[in-house]
Amino acid sequence: MPAPDQTAPTPSLPDDDAHHEAAGDVAVVVLAAGKGTRFRSDLAKVLHRAAGRTLVHHVLEAVRPLDVGQVVVVVGHQADEVGAEVEAAGLDGLSTVAQVDQRGTGHAVQQAMPALAEGIRRVLILPGDTPLLTPDALRGLFTATGGEVPASMLTTVFDDPTGYGRVIRSADGSVDRVVEQRDATPDELEVREGNAGMYLVDRGLLDDALTRLGDDNAQGELYLTDIVGILRGDGHAIAPVVAPESVIAGVNDRAQLAAAAAVLRERHLDHLLREVGVTVVDPVTTHLDVDVEVARDAVLLPGTILERGTRIGERAVVGPNCHLTACDVGPDATVHSTRAQDAVVGEGAEVGPFAHLRPGTRLGVATKVGAYVETKNVQVGERSKIPHLAYVGDTRIGTGVNVACGVITVNYDGRNKHRTTIEDDAFVGCDTMLVAPVTIGRGAYTAAGSTITDDVPPGSLAIARSRQVVKEDWVARQDDGR
Ligand code: UD1
Ligand code: CA
Repeated sequence: MPAPDQTAPTPSLPDDDAHHEAAGDVAVVVLAAGKGTRFRSDLAKVLHRAAGRTLVHHVLEAVRPLDVGQVVVVVGHQADEVGAEVEAAGLDGLSTVAQVDQRGTGHAVQQAMPALAEGIRRVLILPGDTPLLTPDALRGLFTATGGEVPASMLTTVFDDPTGYGRVIRSADGSVDRVVEQRDATPDELEVREGNAGMYLVDRGLLDDALTRLGDDNAQGELYLTDIVGILRGDGHAIAPVVAPESVIAGVNDRAQLAAAAAVLRERHLDHLLREVGVTVVDPVTTHLDVDVEVARDAVLLPGTILERGTRIGERAVVGPNCHLTACDVGPDATVHSTRAQDAVVGEGAEVGPFAHLRPGTRLGVATKVGAYVETKNVQVGERSKIPHLAYVGDTRIGTGVNVACGVITVNYDGRNKHRTTIEDDAFVGCDTMLVAPVTIGRGAYTAAGSTITDDVPPGSLAIARSRQVVKEDWVARQDDGR
């Protein structure tokens, strides 16, 4: 490849140079039709999740930044579910094609070819079960073809290549063919260079090679890997690009799924530690989905699980022992030993220990939700507090409210849910039952132990309990002489 001329002005790239990168003439074909027998699962393999994202979605995220013209996903096993999942990823130019009988990876690509648009000149083929893939590894495939060779492929030198096709090279080091593990001779099994299953191929050559696949092999399938030997037999070079296992590893069983998820978590934590500036006290017990965002100077304490797009604001302290799903925690908030789902924790709020924030909980700025408090579908205004042992559901709480220990919103009558409103600066006394629908007016009080069934007007005190009766010397008057 000639070195670029540094002195000449290059207002636009000539055609040959454009081949060094992905462009509109590239179609990506993702193979996602297989069942994944080795998973022993009722769910299609590519729909299993690693670090919060399905395997096939991970592959699409590696493709997203590449600017390709078209993405075709081959679906078959649980086609509707896999189709819905890939469409939800929202990539431009994405469509699905069906592979009704799964007769091998070569057969899968055959189904995709008729769907390719006219302007497509190159095809990037990817498995749907390689969640560690990165855009940079794919860019390497484009660089390797350099406009001169018609095909490139990713390979890895494994410590243990078990399960992978072996890359067989000629004496001069060029790639000759790929042999599947089950078809390999003992000598070939000794080869540690494995096939990543990712190829960039000239469209015309691919079309031709696909018509020449046979199924005379251990699995009786049309192997895509055979195109390597076919192209080579026709005198075409396939440029190998060697990538690390941590990028191309395939997931064929649950052990590999767990290992891949660990790599994804580690990668994401590394980004937060080194590039964002987050303190993670114990990375081993801190499990974050890949779409979780944590801001600068936040602190994650041990035993913290953050899932489904949870966002943690600057200087917030989360943990130990928190499990937050789809939550938004504001700056300077603290969340301690808490389970929360679809909840918002406002700036400077304090939550826990041992709180359960259920969906629809919206805690305002500088609020407090303390020990053994459960909330659901609740808006809590600025500076309001629910410090201990309470259940508050289907409720709107104003600002500066105190909900004391043991308060329960009685929101369910056995058929319907009803709402409670607690206006600004109200004080709900200990052990109050608020039988909804009910409103506590602005600045009003309820007496401890009250069962409130009627609205309490602003500024008033409601007492709803029986008066205490004291029977003096009652014990001495008993016959049994206790
Ligand atoms: C494949 C390669 C192997 C390579 C490995 C890398 C072949 C024959 N073997 O093996 O050389 O080392 O990937 O990870 O290509 N699929 C379909 N339709 C089918 C069969 C499979 O869409 O009929 C899809 C699967 O859903 C999966 C992908 O193709 O996402 C790869 O299939 P899989 O069975 O996992 O192939 P490997 O045995 O891993
Ligand atoms: Ca595989």
